Amino acid sequence: MSFRTIEWRDNKVIMIDQTRLPREEVYNEYADYRDVAEAIKGMVVRGAPAIGVAAAMGIALGARDIIADTFGSFYQQLNNVCDVIAKTRPTAVNLFWAIERMKHVAAENRDKDLQTIADILKAEAIRIEEEDLLICRAIGKHGAALIPHGATILTHCNAGGLATAGYGTALGVIRAAHEAGKDINVFADETRPWLQGARLTCWELMKEKIPVTLISDNMAGFFMNKGEISCCVVGADRIAGNGDTANKIGTYSVAVLAKENNIPFYVAAPISTLDLSLASGDSIPIEERPSREVTHIQGFPVAPEGAQVRNPAFDVTPARYITAIITEHGVATGDYVARLRALAGE
Ligand code: MRU
Repeated sequence: MSFRTIEWRDNKVIMIDQTRLPREEVYNEYADYRDVAEAIKGMVVRGAPAIGVAAAMGIALGARDIIADTFGSFYQQLNNVCDVIAKTRPTAVNLFWAIERMKHVAAENRDKDLQTIADILKAEAIRIEEEDLLICRAIGKHGAALIPHGATILTHCNAGGLATAGYGTALGVIRAAHEAGKDINVFADETRPWLQGARLTCWELMKEKIPVTLISDNMAGFFMNKGEISCCVVGADRIAGNGDTANKIGTYSVAVLAKENNIPFYVAAPISTLDLSLASGDSIPIEERPSREVTHIQGFPVAPEGAQVRNPAFDVTPARYITAIITEHGVATGDYVARLRALAGE
């Protein structure tokens, strides 16, 4: 990869600042878990798997600074750190998955001295990042098999290296198909209001010379109807037990258009994005973000001052619109309830 989304270096967390891409490639350093929480909230780091890695690294930073005499006191303070991280963004389940994994590791090592526990938590956060890269490569391998030679693939938002520890989920499938010599083209929805497609997906695909064409969100139907799109591949922030999938706002519209035009619609995501505790997508919490993201584009007003705004950051695509869900353990299709449980090893 020609960039690094997030890493632990010299007892600091380093993240590429995604609010400044594509104009500037700037790497921010974080030494305090509260600043990592702000970075997640402010979308310096974004994308479900990358948020999970940032949460784990933030907790490791917080654990290092805890002063305590007993494990009980340490664990209580660690829980406070986790609560701050948990309040950043509600939809991506990877955030909560990473928090639970870090808490579990701390509890499992309760007999060790506190410095050793802090070191173990740091190692666990780094492991989560390293595993994510391998997981994305496995998703890519499974997904590339579904992509025909010469395909034009429409993607929404950024589910790429920037949204993960590297390589990406939806863009992992695209990268793997490209690496397999499939001669693919990508159509990237710009993804209003935050422009992840225009700013991030185009940036990372162009960096790697994967052919990409930028379209505004309302052009997707036009190109599908013209027969120019072979399939759609998107990421996910949370997948319920029945396959209903929360992803960036606008994904649902793309999925409905794809079904209308008989175009396969694929979701690519790690097992850590499954929330099998939810029977359907109806109970997935949907984040509402500040109105300024809609009234302004990159700081410039595009609406009259005082305009009423709604800004849900995600929508839920019902499973009936999804042709297959691609995970690192294989592809689910048909009976999602049984197949997702089997892939998750439950
Ligand atoms: O608000 P964001 O940019 O964090 O939303 C990201 C998405 O919706 C991605 O498509 C999703 O997290 C998958 S990332 C591999």
